[in-house]
Amino acid sequence: MVSAARMTPHAFTTPDAAGPVGIFDSGVGGLSVWREIARQCPAEHTIYVADQAHVPYGPRDEVELRRFCEGITRFLLASGCKAIVVACNTASAAALKHLRECFPHVAILGMEPAVKPAAQITRSRVVGVMATPATFAGKLFRATAGRHASGVTLVTQVCDGLAEQVERGDTDSSATEVMLRRFVEPMLAAGADTIVLACTHYPFALDAIQRIAGPRVTVIDPAPAIARHLGDVLGSRQLRNGSGSRATHRFLTTGDPASLRAAVHRWCGIDGEIGALRWTEDDSELVFA
Ligand code: DGL
Repeated sequence: MVSAARMTPHAFTTPDAAGPVGIFDSGVGGLSVWREIARQCPAEHTIYVADQAHVPYGPRDEVELRRFCEGITRFLLASGCKAIVVACNTASAAALKHLRECFPHVAILGMEPAVKPAAQITRSRVVGVMATPATFAGKLFRATAGRHASGVTLVTQVCDGLAEQVERGDTDSSATEVMLRRFVEPMLAAGADTIVLACTHYPFALDAIQRIAGPRVTVIDPAPAIARHLGDVLGSRQLRNGSGSRATHRFLTTGDPASLRAAVHRWCGIDGEIGALRWTEDDSELVFA
C-alpha cells in the first residue's frame, strides 16, 4: 500500500512545470472539465480523482466536503501536481476558500456558476441556474450572483438526482427525460432564455437539456472558460509544460475502477490509465487501494 505523504498545511515545494495538473470531482462530472483541459492544454499531463465512494456531494454539508477536498488535494500535491482544478461546483462552493488557505502557494482553480456570461447574453433578463443544493447554499453562489446578476432575475433550480443519473451513464433514458423536463420547464415558464449548468455532471446531459429548452435558449457549459483560465494561470506562473513529452493521463477513483474506465472511454474518448484509491478510516487521507 502506498500512502500519500501527509504534508503540514503550509509545506511548500516549488511546482515543476513538467508535473501534472490535478483535477477532481465527486465522480465523473469533472470529466466534462477534463476533456476541455485536454483540448485546450494538450501538452499537460493530468491526474484525475473521482471520489465515487462519496458521490453525490450535493446533499453533504460543508465540514464534510472540506475534509474530502483537503484529503484529495493533499494526495494530488503529494503526487507531484503543479496546479489543482476543483472540477466540481459543489466542492468549490464548500471548500475553495478553505483549500486556498491551506495551500496558499498552490494555484487552485474552482468552478463558479457562469452567471456573469449569462447576464451578458440574456435578452429576457431571466437566467435559469441548475445546480446541487450545496452549491446554492454556499457563499460563492450568493457572491457571484450579487456581483454579476444585477438587473437579472435568477431562477435557481435544484436538480436532485441528476448527477446520479449521469454517474450511471444514463443521460438518454425516458426516466432522465422526465426528470429534465421537471427541472427545465419551470425555468422556461419563468421566462429564462439562458440556462447555466452549475454542476459539472450536467454538460453530459446538455443535448437533452437543449432539446427540451428549444433552440432559442442558450445553455452554458462552463468547462471551456475554466480550461482557458487554467491555461492563463499556468502561463502567468511559468508552469506550462514545455518538455515536449506526450501528455499522460491517469484516472483514479475511490469507487469502482471498471465503472470509471467505462465513463472515461465514453466521455473522454480515450482508454486512460485507471487506478483505485481508498480513504483511511476517518475519511481524511487517500491511499492507493
Ligand atoms: N459534479 C458536482 C458539481 O459540479 C456535483 C455532483 C454531486 O456529487 O452532487 O456540483
